[in-house]
Amino acid sequence: MSKTIESLLVEKRVFKPSREFSKAARIGSMAEYRKIYEASIRNPEKFWAAEASELVWQKRWSKVLDWKAPFAKWFVGGKINASENCLDRHLSGPRRNKAALIWEGEPGERRTLTFHQLHREVCVFANILKRNGAKKGDRVLIYLPMIPEAVVAMLACARIGAVHTVVFAGFSSDSIRDRIQDSGATLVVTADGGYRRGQVVTLKQNVDQALEGARGVKKVIVFRRTNQDIHIKPGRDVWWHREAEYVTADCPAEPLDSEHPLFILYTSGSTGKPKGILHTTGGYLTSCYATSKYIFDLREEDVFWCTADVGWVTGHSYVTYGPLAAGATCMMYEGAPNWPQPDRFWKIIADYGVTILYTAPTAIRAFIKWGKEWPAKHDLSSLRLLGSVGEPINPEAWIWYHETIGGGRCPIVDTWWQTETGVIMISPFPGATPLKPGSATLPFFGVDAAIVDDHGREVGADQGGKLIIRKPWPGMLRTIYGDKARYRKQYWGEFKGVYVAGDGARRDKDGYFWVVGRIDDVLNVAGHRLGTAEVESALVSHETVAEAAVVGRPDELKGQAVVAFVTLREGAKASKELADKLRKHVGTVIGPIAKPDDIRFAEALPKTRSGKIMRRLLKQIVEGANITGDTTTLEDFRVLAELRSRDD
Ligand code: WT7
Repeated sequence: MSKTIESLLVEKRVFKPSREFSKAARIGSMAEYRKIYEASIRNPEKFWAAEASELVWQKRWSKVLDWKAPFAKWFVGGKINASENCLDRHLSGPRRNKAALIWEGEPGERRTLTFHQLHREVCVFANILKRNGAKKGDRVLIYLPMIPEAVVAMLACARIGAVHTVVFAGFSSDSIRDRIQDSGATLVVTADGGYRRGQVVTLKQNVDQALEGARGVKKVIVFRRTNQDIHIKPGRDVWWHREAEYVTADCPAEPLDSEHPLFILYTSGSTGKPKGILHTTGGYLTSCYATSKYIFDLREEDVFWCTADVGWVTGHSYVTYGPLAAGATCMMYEGAPNWPQPDRFWKIIADYGVTILYTAPTAIRAFIKWGKEWPAKHDLSSLRLLGSVGEPINPEAWIWYHETIGGGRCPIVDTWWQTETGVIMISPFPGATPLKPGSATLPFFGVDAAIVDDHGREVGADQGGKLIIRKPWPGMLRTIYGDKARYRKQYWGEFKGVYVAGDGARRDKDGYFWVVGRIDDVLNVAGHRLGTAEVESALVSHETVAEAAVVGRPDELKGQAVVAFVTLREGAKASKELADKLRKHVGTVIGPIAKPDDIRFAEALPKTRSGKIMRRLLKQIVEGANITGDTTTLEDFRVLAELRSRDD
């Protein structure tokens, strides 16, 4: 018998879309969803070709898909430019003078760029890139704060066929150096500095340090943001605004092969060196466009705010390529959500009339911790749709988001995907899908997702297993940059021709997907395999708990004992009595098997900079082992030091 992951948490609440929402939505009923979904699975190429046809192609493809597992080519023979599709194609109609980007800096400045203005800036910067030696296929590393120039730089690369690799501005010089070396970047685009929580961060200085040990970078283009003193190395470093004086705004979009690389984005592998995930042009853009259109149900009058940084894939697909290809207005904010006060997001929503908010569970849990009084200060009635991405959203956080932010009227699209998948794979359609808090619900069109056991056999309803995708899709990664063997082994090595996501999940009797955590984090307690998400959700459903992370500790009797790290909400006090209560609570919500053996209260949990809890490190702490593996993505080392010192 092969083992599957057991799933014990049952969430029964269901939220149907309102008649009003359904009526206006692109996909307005489950019958319609099913009809299109089934056709898209019978013939994915037909579905994707129809979506691709809504974009501008400089030359039409001759073949939709060339699939030699695990290597896919989409829209073979087609020529397309992503920048042209995000900009030029909107210039001949009423979108020409519509806001493409509405931006607010952390100190409070405001800028709006229409499609016409954004197009102009992109053309100017594309010419600056060329003037500084960038050519088609060259890699350009972008290390910028969340300012419009980050989007401008990405689209300018896309315009000339240079391959961007964006590095999150919170990363250190070591991370920059590693990524320069792995990608072979010859050009870096950065700023003098940026603003974060009232502080000035030294971006250019980090780049200088990174370049001390790296070869190959010929030019550094510096945008002036903070006006702080920086070192300019003659012959290597140039100012963006000075360069702009030497170029025109005339830069036709380069016709690029559909499979031309668009970007490399590094994800932290759980061990060892980061992986450069490679995405290409035609298929990726088609997928970004289609998912944005259907899942966010974008309308001309929307103000769409995806709060992710451009340093993450979410900022690529749903700040830049998806919404702009769909001609939507995007909100962009530079700074921290609690600067100068914990109501910054809510103030922005009220000030600009944001209609769609797409954010992460880690942020939602922070908002809950800070208290309802902050959103209550602002008028959030412009919101019509909410989204979540990055981790399983625990039902308590879902309900809070729905009520406190969405006023009970906004559907929530809980979107499951990965840097590797490029685009959303499992998600509700907001006008059709009845929502169950905690479930990403059903697959997007053309996505053949399933749950299998360790032998690759599909499991029955409510049985846990591995989440897989059985057919290629246009937005999929093409390889790990420079390492085909690792690509094959990591994602396609377990079952033939099948993509293994690395997540544990189950499907309920309605076919809904429930992600229970990363496979590597699964607990094994007395012969039962438990996902981390359910135990954590049960803990967070207690009124005193803000956040929880559970890991296994070797145990002679049970195989593994469950250790829970818990942070408390404002006002709650850690005590032995509370630990006992929480243990009991998990026993009641899930069952005795999931009761944590050990509950440790903490001020904060170790997270990646994108907000994911690093259970791997917690595991090393409970095992008393030294912290090993990649920690360069860890947000705050003090958290780790504190957790460790408690253990000693
Ligand atoms: C991993 C991918 C996708 C962009 C941001 C993260 C987890 C993501 C969900 C969700 C449950 C989710 C998975 C996945 N994840 N969204 N809606 N429900 N889990 O990209 O850094 O590549 O992480 O995030 O574990 O594998 P990423």
